[in-house]
Amino acid sequence: MAATRSTVRAITGGAAPPEGVHVADIKHAIGSHIAGYRFDGVSVPDDFRIALRELLQRRGLVLFEPGTVTAENFTTFAGFLGTFFHYAGPHTPRAPENPDATMIDSSRDNRLRNHIWHADGGFREDAPAFTALFGKVIPQGSGDTMFASAAHVYDMLDPLFAQYLESLTVVQSPDATGHITERYLDPEEAAQARLKMPPFEMPLVRVHPASGRKWVAVNESYACYIKGVSRVHSQNILGILFDMIKSPEATCRIEWREGALAVWDNRVVQHRAVKDYAPGTARILYRCTMTA
Ligand SMILES: [Fe+2]
Repeated sequence: MAATRSTVRAITGGAAPPEGVHVADIKHAIGSHIAGYRFDGVSVPDDFRIALRELLQRRGLVLFEPGTVTAENFTTFAGFLGTFFHYAGPHTPRAPENPDATMIDSSRDNRLRNHIWHADGGFREDAPAFTALFGKVIPQGSGDTMFASAAHVYDMLDPLFAQYLESLTVVQSPDATGHITERYLDPEEAAQARLKMPPFEMPLVRVHPASGRKWVAVNESYACYIKGVSRVHSQNILGILFDMIKSPEATCRIEWREGALAVWDNRVVQHRAVKDYAPGTARILYRCTMTA
């Protein structure tokens, strides 16, 4: 964690924070950590909401210390960012304490593909804008999550290369790396999933509607190919971008503590779990996703 500490007021340059709240940058490219705030379970003060939204736009990821929220109320806390958007399928059950959260449980689902870089719901044109993830059960010393700023990746590009990328269209599919094939074993269920989630096209470089920042909108899980070029050309371009996305300069790694909460802008931030625990180990995270 970086040494710089300041109040939310200093970080955001405007909105007043609750007394005693402190913010620290996690890495230069991405992430802020907030300490000293306790959600009352009812509402987030208006000025703090404005500060948090601005912080998410600028830093991509905000991590809250354990004790900020609970398994029951973290969705109420993060819910101000938008409307809950439950795109999850039959393999992602609801959390027992919280109907607004889904449960990602490594011990119950050995086909989880969350260790491949992705944006949540990135197989849909209307992928959620924000994700909140609550640490429920964390294996000792393992099960971290890595995050990457695809906006920082864009900023690192050679300007001529960036200009070329802006002319390209990418085809995205949930089955680009087997999400449907491996997760939906029942043929009828798989056929329904393919009908519900067909491949779609989008610009390779996108522009954030609020901040105006550009980002490289491809991830290893769901990008199939670049349209109109050869397979080798497409693979090589995507390979360069995937390499930059997972580079130390664009990423940070979060060591979970039970009760911690991570909230991120799911458009410009990609993530992956680190699967460095034994098969069958419980690693349980509660998640909610929201539209803008
Ligand atoms: Fe995810």
